[in-house]
Amino acid sequence: EKGHFRHFMQKEIFEQPTVVAQTLRSYLRQVDQSLALPQVDFDLSRINRITIVACGTSFYAGMVAKYWIEAFARLPVDIDVASEFRYRNPVLEPGGLALFISQSGETADTLAALRHCKAAGQTIAVVVNVPTSTMAREADLLLPTHAGPEVGVASTKAFTCQLAVLAALAAHLAVKRGRMDREEEMEVVQHLLEVPASLNAALEHDEEIAAMAHHIAQARDVLYLGRGPDYPLALEGALKLKEISYIHAEGYASGEMKHGPIALIDEDVPVIVLAPSGPLFEKTVSNMHEVRARGGKVILISDAEGIAEAGEGCIATIEMSQVHPLIAPLVYAVPVQLLAYHVACLKGTDVDQPRNLAKSVTVE
Ligand code: M6R
Repeated sequence: EKGHFRHFMQKEIFEQPTVVAQTLRSYLRQVDQSLALPQVDFDLSRINRITIVACGTSFYAGMVAKYWIEAFARLPVDIDVASEFRYRNPVLEPGGLALFISQSGETADTLAALRHCKAAGQTIAVVVNVPTSTMAREADLLLPTHAGPEVGVASTKAFTCQLAVLAALAAHLAVKRGRMDREEEMEVVQHLLEVPASLNAALEHDEEIAAMAHHIAQARDVLYLGRGPDYPLALEGALKLKEISYIHAEGYASGEMKHGPIALIDEDVPVIVLAPSGPLFEKTVSNMHEVRARGGKVILISDAEGIAEAGEGCIATIEMSQVHPLIAPLVYAVPVQLLAYHVACLKGTDVDQPRNLAKSVTVE
């Protein structure tokens, strides 16, 4: 039931600190600050390539995972949306791990891709939220998220729980491959354990975000920009807005702006910039200045340091607490979800049951 919430989506957004903590509990051991992934009867250290396949929001979680797995475990990662992957005759060599991400565990394209990879001799890992689902049953390595039932068609808590599992998996692979020592493992675990509190802090921006939703609600087009692991989050922000508010939105890698989309910028196109301070901040800010120089109206989502440096001249800013770059994609998911949610409420759309969409897409 919805309890005191207006919509399931809103309830699910607010459940994130609890369900992410719940999910992390089965992948981390707090006592000795170590990773604790399910035991498997094959040698994960011998995997030589990972192929990630998913759809929609789960695909964006996979994009973040690619970034982490490459950075930590130094394993090559290939990623595709399921509907493309299946039909491009992908090269699947021995020693490959195919990783499928799905809230429902029933998405037809993802399931078809899973069966294709299985037939091609890949080891099958799945990150699913429904433990009784078809994908869960067909996996060699089952990595459940513990988000609880997700009712809103727009995926929210499943996404952050997927990211939590994928971060633990990336670090685990790094340990297995001898790329991460005990001290680094403890550091990763500590950062992950900080996530629930950081999600709570992010949720405190709810009213402030509701108050800025009018900037977006009148727009015809909206752009979201991010870099590195925050680029998939820009895509996710745009997808959320499209799905529930029916406003046209696009996510772009910040550096791609000047290769085309900047032509769209004028006073009527709000641009949402996701830029936690950190190694990629300066570059993203220079892309933001390019937008502003063309009259673009920027909403900057960053932390105190980032906003002090680049917040002036933005139509609005959301000041997040300072978080480690590893966990930023989880924490910055909250303001993009809340923004889409409040814009949809202003527009009066059916938030939990947006037109033309089904919770689980079981046709290819
Ligand atoms: O159940 P799945 O995670 O496999 O579903 C994948 C997509 O259909 C899903 O994420 C969809 O994009 C959501 N409506 C996004 O909010």
